[in-house]
Amino acid sequence: MTESTVEQQIAALRCEIDEHNYRYYVEDEPSVPDAEYDRLFQQLLQLEQQHPQLLIASSPSQRVGAAALGSFQQVQHEVPMLSLDNAFNDQDLVDFDRRVRDRLKLSDDYPIEYGAEPKLDGIAVSLLYEQGQLVRGATRGDGAVGENISLNVRTINAIPLQLRGTDWPQRLEVRGEIYLPKAGFDALNARMRASDLKEFVNPRNAAAGSLRQLDSAVTATRPLTFCAYGFGVVEYAEGQNRLPDSHTQLLLQFKRWGLPINPEMASLNGIQACLDYYQQLAAKRASLGYEIDGIVYKVNPRALQQQLGFVARAPRWAIARKFPAQEEITRLLDVDFQVGRTGAVTPVARLEPVFVGGVTVSNATLHNMDEVERLDVRIGDSVVVRRAGDVIPQVARVVLERRPDGACIVELPQACPVCGSQVERIEGEAAARCSGGVSCSAQRKQAIKHYVSRKAMDIDGLGDKLVDLLVDKGLLQQLADLYQLQHPQVAGLDRMGDKSADNLLASIELSKQTTLAKFLYSLGIREVGEATAGSLARHFLTLDAIIAADEEDLQQVSDVGPVVAQHLQLFLQQPQNLESIRALTAAGVTWPEVKVVSAEQQPLAGRSFAITGKFEAMARPDAKARLEALGAKVTTGVPTAKTDALIAGAKAGSKLAKAQALGIEVWDEAKLLELLQAGDSTL
Ligand code: IVH
Repeated sequence: MTESTVEQQIAALRCEIDEHNYRYYVEDEPSVPDAEYDRLFQQLLQLEQQHPQLLIASSPSQRVGAAALGSFQQVQHEVPMLSLDNAFNDQDLVDFDRRVRDRLKLSDDYPIEYGAEPKLDGIAVSLLYEQGQLVRGATRGDGAVGENISLNVRTINAIPLQLRGTDWPQRLEVRGEIYLPKAGFDALNARMRASDLKEFVNPRNAAAGSLRQLDSAVTATRPLTFCAYGFGVVEYAEGQNRLPDSHTQLLLQFKRWGLPINPEMASLNGIQACLDYYQQLAAKRASLGYEIDGIVYKVNPRALQQQLGFVARAPRWAIARKFPAQEEITRLLDVDFQVGRTGAVTPVARLEPVFVGGVTVSNATLHNMDEVERLDVRIGDSVVVRRAGDVIPQVARVVLERRPDGACIVELPQACPVCGSQVERIEGEAAARCSGGVSCSAQRKQAIKHYVSRKAMDIDGLGDKLVDLLVDKGLLQQLADLYQLQHPQVAGLDRMGDKSADNLLASIELSKQTTLAKFLYSLGIREVGEATAGSLARHFLTLDAIIAADEEDLQQVSDVGPVVAQHLQLFLQQPQNLESIRALTAAGVTWPEVKVVSAEQQPLAGRSFAITGKFEAMARPDAKARLEALGAKVTTGVPTAKTDALIAGAKAGSKLAKAQALGIEVWDEAKLLELLQAGDSTL
């Protein structure tokens, strides 16, 4: 090959790789599979190795990291990197708008246009481009002096080494945030765990740690990304276009130059629109792929920004409206132990009440003793409590530096706190269990609550409080006692009248007519959910056959594995459980014979579905099992041309795109439920 054709080939490869990077990081629409990208990259590396004289600094191959530095050099910022004032509630934001219009002497009915974008929780950086080439990356430092992290910055694929187009100012300092998306954070921590290294506490720390590496080869292995939100120095050559004159237009221009910007950014007219945007983004916060800690509002026209100017360390034309913190520190006052339906004895943290993630938290589950040991949490400790989105509050970690003298080790009680039976901790199992079975009133209460619940026997009007009361009064010693309840006993209870007692007894009576699948599910056997109960009923047809089955027989059922089979056996061999079942049927609980349906007769025989995303009404494996029970073929893999429809729940990603590309029908959860109901009426 001649030099010039190699040169062309290398240039073409660089161009193509840059283009894929742009599609991936800026457009957020990957154009080729990862494998194809890797192949191009390898090709480029090879050619450059063979022709080192053709290497240039802006080649995508030059991102892989360079020799380790002894220390970072200082960088004096030509334009200081400021911080932002904070607003903690709507009123603070309204006050900000007031101050802005007072300064600008604007009348009340003249709305100010704001640019709004998420406040990313990462590390602020400055990227200097000269003639469109990245020449330096620096941290914010104290705002006046930062550190030169050029080598590290170059390893981040989202940061262009060369700006696209030609219409950029000859010198341009782009400012933005380097951050680690949630998925990247999880992957990084999984790697740290696998190598027995200390995990990072949150994405921000992980991003900071990754950027602070003196060895940029380490940074190169960290899935960091970047988002641009402003500029510092700008110098134009003669005849060059000025930057656009509003903030949001500037961001759109950045995007054209190949710099990623946040897709949630918006231009908003007036303060009310800003308040609304806050609500919208707050609702979306948990589902975003990266952590944000607020919203930044900026007066959009740059002419107005210039009029407003700066105070001390922050501009007058911008403000950060903070979300409620997702992590707070509080004190662990005590640890209680609760007993669940299956006897699991669960440690629960009693906390000094703390406002976190928008609610006041005073309890948090500690899951099990393994978790207590992992956290090394002691009573009296200061702990970090975390509540993200709708997720239940968690004790994330202990602030060891604040451990008081005499902090008390948490110990598993030897006796059940409810019934006094021995607590057992089985090798290999995380949960400790009360050995009391249904003689333990805590387990009995939970078993009854499960039995009467909607998806089980569906007894209306028998809420948790009432079950507690009935058990405490000694009226429910076992499940079958439900069917012996008498009107005067019920009507005499707290907050129950004649009418509600009538209704309750009527719905108890009604529940006697059930199906085998529901009855099985109602028994609350460990690992036997609705779908498994349905499969068991269809396979064995009668309860006696299920009771008679050994573990091997049980595993003939499609979604029964060794663990489920063992739980079933354990339950069905206990005399008190068999007695409980006998008492229930003797009390009149009954179900129609399960009909044998041949494969071809099943309502969804011969149909094939792909299923993806998250569903509200049931977990995805349950949805899959229920569709299969109706004869359908179901995959959780990628849909193909042979797929009849893709059933897509919330947050369906690439599979949805694939289905759309193939022109396959896409169904939502409502349609799924309709289908299941239509086919499922016999079970
Ligand atoms: S604008 C003069 N926009 O927040 C304006 N900052 O407290 C300066 N940050 O250190 C910043 N996302 O690291 C701006 N969309 C955004 C931001 C953002 C995150 C950080 C930035 C800065 C801090 C200011």
